[in-house]
Amino acid sequence: MNFYVMTLFPELIENAAKESILGRAEKAGYISVTAVNFRDYSKDRHRHVDDYTYGGGAGMLIKPEPVYDCYEDLAKKIGHPARVVYLTPGGRVFTQEMASELAREEDLILLCGHYEWIDERVIDEIVTDQVSIGDYVLTGGELPALVLIDAVSRLVPGVLSAGSAETESFSDGLLEYPQYTRPEVFRGVRVPEVLISGDHRKVDLWRREESLKKTFRNRPDLLRTAPLTKEDRAFLKTLKENDDICE
Ligand code: 6GU
Repeated sequence: MNFYVMTLFPELIENAAKESILGRAEKAGYISVTAVNFRDYSKDRHRHVDDYTYGGGAGMLIKPEPVYDCYEDLAKKIGHPARVVYLTPGGRVFTQEMASELAREEDLILLCGHYEWIDERVIDEIVTDQVSIGDYVLTGGELPALVLIDAVSRLVPGVLSAGSAETESFSDGLLEYPQYTRPEVFRGVRVPEVLISGDHRKVDLWRREESLKKTFRNRPDLLRTAPLTKEDRAFLKTLKENDDICE
């Protein structure tokens, strides 16, 4: 899978993508991350890419031409239509489901604004998806683009060892259960007895219940859509009843 990032800060993207799992995935040829500076497409002799806002108001706006010319060059290079994701707090909030959907694409163009928004006409002209990473405002789309690249890349076959992408939080609609490694006692706290019991059925049940507990406490909204068994519902009922007693 190939990511092309249109940005004013290409080093930010390239340096982050060089590290850890993304870096390894790129070396192994599973993904590529190419950052393109759309300032290189400015026709201005001072290489400006922004200008005053029509209608007034503080701040500047990124002009449409350098973004469009940069896109055209990229589209030519890619050679077939590719989705263009604009990272903006005004977009749809990014989810694991969106990550899985995007992981099926062969090429993806990401567009980042920085400090300032982008002229709406070029957004209308080239953008297919508008994505936000949550309800807070950042100084630019670069960190969100890296978040998206990270979440999508780990779903590309070969990037993670088999199975690790599936057993994690959200893949079954619930948060992940706690995990432990050696030592058996750390600062006086023992690893839960059931995990040392060797009884796999008991371990699975314990993990399921821990997932349900954590989801109930931290993200009760997920329980409305998570696929739940009759046993899960009975267990959740006992959690709710205990909660009532605590109040
Ligand atoms: Cl995608 N961009 C910016 N600038 N801020 C954000 C965001 C994106 N998502 C959440 N906050």
